[in-house]
Amino acid sequence: MANSFNPSSLLLKTKPRLSSYLFTLLSIILFTAIILNTHDFLFIFRPHLQQLHPKTETNTVLFSTVTQSNNTVQEVEKKEEEEEEEKECDLFSGTWVKDELTRPLYEESECPYIQPQLTCQEHGRPDKEYRRLRWQPHGCDLPKFNASLMLETLRGKRMMFVGDSLNRGQYVSLICLLHHLIPQHAKSMETFDSLTVFTAKEYNATIEFYWAPFLLESNSDNAVIHRVTDRIVRKGSINKHGRYWKGADILVFNTYLWWVTGSNMKILLGSFKDEVKEIVEMQTEEAYRMAMKSMLRWVKMNMDPNKTRVFFTSMSPSHGKSIEWGGEPGGNCYNETTPIEEPSYWGSDSLKSIMQVIGEEFRKSKFPITFLNITQLSNYRKDAHTSIYKKQWNPLTPEQLANPASYSDCIHWCLPGLQDTWNELLFAKLFYP
Ligand SMILES: *[C@@H]1O[C@H](CO)[C@@H](O)[C@H](O)[C@H]1NC(C)=O
Ligand SMILES: *[C@@H]1O[C@H](CO)[C@@H](O)[C@H](O)[C@H]1NC(C)=O
Ligand SMILES: *[C@@H]1O[C@H](CO)[C@@H](O)[C@H](O)[C@H]1NC(C)=O
Ligand SMILES: *[C@@H]1O[C@H](CO)[C@@H](O)[C@H](O)[C@H]1NC(C)=O
Ligand SMILES: *[C@@H]1O[C@H](CO)[C@@H](O)[C@H](O)[C@H]1NC(C)=O
Ligand SMILES: *[C@@H]1O[C@H](CO)[C@@H](O)[C@H](O)[C@H]1NC(C)=O
Repeated sequence: MANSFNPSSLLLKTKPRLSSYLFTLLSIILFTAIILNTHDFLFIFRPHLQQLHPKTETNTVLFSTVTQSNNTVQEVEKKEEEEEEEKECDLFSGTWVKDELTRPLYEESECPYIQPQLTCQEHGRPDKEYRRLRWQPHGCDLPKFNASLMLETLRGKRMMFVGDSLNRGQYVSLICLLHHLIPQHAKSMETFDSLTVFTAKEYNATIEFYWAPFLLESNSDNAVIHRVTDRIVRKGSINKHGRYWKGADILVFNTYLWWVTGSNMKILLGSFKDEVKEIVEMQTEEAYRMAMKSMLRWVKMNMDPNKTRVFFTSMSPSHGKSIEWGGEPGGNCYNETTPIEEPSYWGSDSLKSIMQVIGEEFRKSKFPITFLNITQLSNYRKDAHTSIYKKQWNPLTPEQLANPASYSDCIHWCLPGLQDTWNELLFAKLFYP
């Protein structure tokens, strides 16, 4: 039908030279073309498919099964050739917009996998606006999260998140985004020490979480009892945990908060079994660099860039000092219900020096790691933390009750909420690398 011509180019090229009669006629044709072909027409205004190709990631390899979903991939590849001049779109640079139509992506009560530390509504959070925000990149739109495409891609595969409780939050968010497509009898979640495994039986797929807050071996590795004040990390010990990651098709790493102790890191040179332990102190940045190098070496030796994908999620910010965003002294994320609007806002506990280490080490890596740079977009979200609306493991004292900010959790995030966006970004980078 109207496929043979492109309405926009026709309009631009012919309009000035036509008589008004011809122009009217053309307008009618054009209008009809638009009506009959809304899809293609709208496509012109949806630049995301063209722009989702950061040129810096030319080495990214499509996940093998993704090629089966012919439409999307071929469309994207074709567009990529056509639009080589097109400016790349930075998905991580944007703004939070209210979207009551599509948010939240699921209801808290519909997802039984959320730990009681993250179920804010159940624990009495009075406001709901924090769940109605959508991330809007400046230069394009995020592709819609397609749960069935994601599950099909995971068929016969193993996806694994490795890191700390913030990565666990993203892991649970992903399961919440997917599980509604799987009937009750065909899914399960089990925990074995450091490993939690969600199984989608009919897909022969697992989505797993492995607790390793430093990636390397440490004295905080117990999946339940890990609140150690004097943290010690063992140098060169990545295989201690890494042997459990082998065979994963998609890996999603994070590590950050546990390194930030306010003083130097203690690094163990020998083994935790040594009677006399040889411990040296290292600056946070140097210790973190050591972990990045270990992780990248492990990935290079154990992952196949042609068949697997590796993601790394940047620092998850916290909001412990409201003076940083112009609030009352002594306050924190407690009672915050709106995001920070200052585009350049960056909280002091997201160490730029660590971001720099990540950038430097990843640039040297020959293995293509997909970097989820969620720090800036999460920095705006002082409203998205669990605050006091979570399960309290210990009874609260009268002093605490009198001052809720004193026991407010400004590190973890309510679900549904911010971390669903991290997964939308993961989804975008998985399918439109
Ligand atoms: C994908 O496209 C190829 C040709 O480009 C075709 O042979 C194949 O059947 C298509 N697969 C699916 C699942 O549509
Ligand atoms: C989601 O992906 C499936 C392929 O698994 C496809 O059939 C479907 O059309 C997609 N849905 C949307 C809304 O794009
Ligand atoms: C299930 O997936 C695993 C990999 O995770 C694979 O080794 C196995 O052959 C698959 N089984 C079936 C029945 O497809
Ligand atoms: C990946 O594929 C490319 C081209 O298909 C090949 O040259 C390369 O050796 C492969 N790499 C690995 C690690 O298998
Ligand atoms: C919470 O914030 C509102 C205004 O946003 C304020 O009126 C109220 O006093 C605050 N509550 C507490 C307990 O700080
Ligand atoms: C992540 O994003 C921030 C802010 O947008 C930027 O300053 C930083 O350089 C980025 N990090 C890396 C490693 O690219």
